[in-house]
Amino acid sequence: MPWQFFPVFTSSPANWTGRIILANTISFCSETMKQYEWLLTRYPTRRAALLPTLRLAESDFGELGVPEMRYVADLMEIPPAFVFGVVTFYTHYRRAGTGKFHIQVCSTLSCALRGSEDVVSRITERLGIKPGETTPCGHFTLSKVECLGSCDTAPMLQCNDDYHEDLSLEDVDQLIEQLRTEAEGGQNG
Ligand code: FES
Repeated sequence: MPWQFFPVFTSSPANWTGRIILANTISFCSETMKQYEWLLTRYPTRRAALLPTLRLAESDFGELGVPEMRYVADLMEIPPAFVFGVVTFYTHYRRAGTGKFHIQVCSTLSCALRGSEDVVSRITERLGIKPGETTPCGHFTLSKVECLGSCDTAPMLQCNDDYHEDLSLEDVDQLIEQLRTEAEGGQNG
């Protein structure tokens, strides 16, 4: 099957409902293209601009699946395997199939010593998912990640772009409730 017609079935059952995107049907909007062109002036080579370009793609397309990564590879004239390797190496890119809220719990030493495993267990208990899983409704994805650079406020987690620090289990409960309300509000709205 040619790559242009590669169907995208993501890891989340909530997204197995026929989400098919053709890589050759997507492109940056004009504003994103301008930002991309500006980025290229700031780096010595195209390839050096890959990380911020992926951030632009994530923001323009909402997530990085096969078609989005393939589009970036073609745009930057970089081998697709290299782009896939970069996206799958870093945890901070939003991959296809990620829930509306991506909860990433830091599990490195400072956070581990300050109870990050309890934070993970509490989230698992409240949402019914283990690290690496997404809720069937597609609202939440849970991940354990390496140091997020906020060791002095351990234990901590990142939810989408926001940090939640110095967490107690009560803070975790409160956060889950707040996110549930937001997710349900978004659904109704
Ligand atoms: S160890 Fe958790 S933020 Fe650094």
